[in-house]
Amino acid sequence: MIRLALSALLLLSGLAAAAAVLFAWTGVYSVGASEGHWPVTRWFLEFTMRRSVSTHAFAVESPPPFTEAMFRRGLGHFASACAPCHGAPGEPRNEVVRNMLPPPPDLATHVPNWRPEQLFWIVKHGLKYTGMPSWPTQQRDDEVWAMVAFLQRLPELTPEEYGPLARGKLLLPPSAPEPMSPMGPLGELSRSALVTCARCHGVAGEGDEAGAFPKLAGQSRAYLLESLRSFATGRRPSGIMQPVAVELRGETMEELATYFASIDPAAMAGQEPGGAAAEPGLIRRGEQIAMQGVPDRGVPACASCHGGGSPAPSHPLYPSLAGQPAEYLSDQLALWQKGARGGTGAANIMARLADGLAPEEIRAVSAYFSSLPSVGRAASEQASR
Ligand code: HEC
Ligand code: HEC
Ligand code: HEC
Repeated sequence: MIRLALSALLLLSGLAAAAAVLFAWTGVYSVGASEGHWPVTRWFLEFTMRRSVSTHAFAVESPPPFTEAMFRRGLGHFASACAPCHGAPGEPRNEVVRNMLPPPPDLATHVPNWRPEQLFWIVKHGLKYTGMPSWPTQQRDDEVWAMVAFLQRLPELTPEEYGPLARGKLLLPPSAPEPMSPMGPLGELSRSALVTCARCHGVAGEGDEAGAFPKLAGQSRAYLLESLRSFATGRRPSGIMQPVAVELRGETMEELATYFASIDPAAMAGQEPGGAAAEPGLIRRGEQIAMQGVPDRGVPACASCHGGGSPAPSHPLYPSLAGQPAEYLSDQLALWQKGARGGTGAANIMARLADGLAPEEIRAVSAYFSSLPSVGRAASEQASR
């Protein structure tokens, strides 16, 4: 009896599947986006999406504390990568994407429907069959959290607050001396690329006051160029820098590297060392690590490669750390520990070394380097002669 019922059930489902294939084969069903969905289809798709996101978000760890720097980093990327589809405060979605099916929603009204872990999951993995893309790399949860930090504040952001942050400082600070901006060597393409870099790094590569973006001014040409190349090939994974670097031609990369390397960050007016607010005890501990390393665990002195404030790094591929935001430095060290920080051909030196540092030591040494005034490569090489 049971066997008979089972065979009937199998036969029926086989017939149903065959009917569905036949229906698809006739081509009667329209896949045109202009047709919209039947209300029942729309309900079903929406229900499936909500259930899938809720279930998968259970596996997401709880969010790290959100900082101002994370908010700014998320905002910078949002302006170029998300606003063209979703719109932004003061920038309505454009007419073309409104005709997508489903259309990308206005996130200011949708964000409150989701918990931070759910937003994280959506932004990291994207949504199948909708046009909502996944994060360009699956290795940078820190970047995805930065985007969530921004999304959480999006509903209250006014166009007056959002606009200037999204555009960045396109003009030189008025007090800046002229020679620090050698726009001369930049060709037409590089000038327009510089407008992009400036939104986040500042037009003179000075970074931003919240410490969301690393300073580029005064790093060596070799380090800047090799870093751009490693972002472009994905050897240094970053969902924020990878899409930017992929767009650059070889020549443009070279010109931009030459440009930022030639700027003396010390000449920049109003430059406050980022670590000024850190506790003096922490900075002293950091100085000890920078000068002597952590001998018990075989960690060498950082200054032997990176220099301090004034001696320049000892090799063109060793970046200067002085005056770099503390949060940026400690994030990079944490990435090495997770195996998610690639870089130039010299980067594996750091991978081994970072493993020997405890979280407290990372905090201290980052606060120390951040408290030093940044000095341009050219200037520091002269001083050490
Ligand atoms: C090519 C267009 C496109 C881009 C670019 C895009 N999205 Fe989306 N996004 C969509 C579409 C379409 C949906 C709607 C999915 C749906 O309704 O099921 C969506 C949905 C979402 C949702 C869920 C909202 C909800 O309640 O349904 C979030 C959150 C989101 N996107 C964030 C982002 C972020 C952050 C970025 C930038 C990193 C981004 N999106 C880039 C098209 C895009
Ligand atoms: C949307 C913001 C944004 C834009 C636009 C942007 N950057 Fe970046 N950049 C970042 C972030 C964030 C990082 C840190 C990446 C990481 O954590 O791996 C970074 C890192 C870098 C680094 C590595 C710095 C170091 O000390 O290792 C270089 C070099 C760089 N960017 C160059 C550029 C250039 C050149 C442009 C313009 C063509 C540009 N960036 C545009 C956000 C941006
Ligand atoms: C033997 C040389 C060497 C020593 C010693 C060294 N580093 Fe590095 N460090 C490098 C190199 C090379 C890079 C560049 C990696 C890349 O991106 O290719 C780097 C990069 C970094 C970065 C990333 C900077 C940026 O702009 O993205 C940080 C942070 C850093 N090192 C911290 C430290 C600390 C802290 C110590 C001491 C505990 C240390 N390093 C000791 C060689 C060294």
